[in-house]
Amino acid sequence: MNKKIKKCLFPAAGYGTRFLPATKAIPKEMLPVLTKPLLQYGVEEAISAGLDTMAIVTGRGKRAIEDHFDRSYELENQIDGTSKESLMEDIRDIIKTCTFSYTRQIEMKGLGHAILTGETLIGDEPFAVILADDLCDNANGDAVLTQMIKMYEKYKCSIVAVEEIPMNDTNKYGVIAGEFEEDSIVRVNNMVEKPDPKDAPSNLAIIGRYILTPDIFDIIRETKPGKGGEIQITDALLEQAKQGNVIAYKFDGKRFDCGSVDGFVEATNYFYNKSS
Ligand code: G1P
Repeated sequence: MNKKIKKCLFPAAGYGTRFLPATKAIPKEMLPVLTKPLLQYGVEEAISAGLDTMAIVTGRGKRAIEDHFDRSYELENQIDGTSKESLMEDIRDIIKTCTFSYTRQIEMKGLGHAILTGETLIGDEPFAVILADDLCDNANGDAVLTQMIKMYEKYKCSIVAVEEIPMNDTNKYGVIAGEFEEDSIVRVNNMVEKPDPKDAPSNLAIIGRYILTPDIFDIIRETKPGKGGEIQITDALLEQAKQGNVIAYKFDGKRFDCGSVDGFVEATNYFYNKSS
């Protein structure tokens, strides 16, 4: 499996119920932190990690995503040559630099199912996954996905990004356990989706950055519904982990849970302070 990672999958079909009514007609991935939608932060992170193909799994009511990553001739015509033109520079560059492809998830059957829906856009090669509502920043250097690509080049297996969380929060995350191979690398031998604190194998939680080898698709096809009756990527990854083929990487940087109002406000303040 020596193929270079070029594609990033963005599961973006969820309803975003925690942000209702804002997400009634607007995809949650399009909510802005300052002036940029969450999904654009994810795409920029993928580009900075050297990826050029963005594969987005959308659903009903998500057309704003496709329109965002496309030209907007009327608007551009209006602002070209004015002081506003520079505000569009970044998104124009993104559209020029990478390819976007889309498929729709018809039924919401969990993150594992969303990733399997993206198989048609990925094919038989290793790929990255970004959950756009986990917004990451590393002021000190490489973006989280860049760090993970470097790890992939060394380990050539699936990788999950993890961080330490308070034990009380384990029921919000996939939680891993395993043996440390290096300072920030754990060879995973157990993973549980959203365990009660008393059943959690550790306090190392998976955040929304993955590198997956393509055999994951066949495994997901065989994965039975788990927590919440949904097909969980954590359960599919456990099958790879049993073969010794998953590492967890304690990344450098900050991560904001923009799927929650508190995390969203924290991210907004952080990026505002960073920009001013
Ligand atoms: C998903 C995964 C979970 C992971 C989390 C990271 O859960 O199922 O394992 O820890 O993303 O954000 P969700 O937040 O979609 O419920």
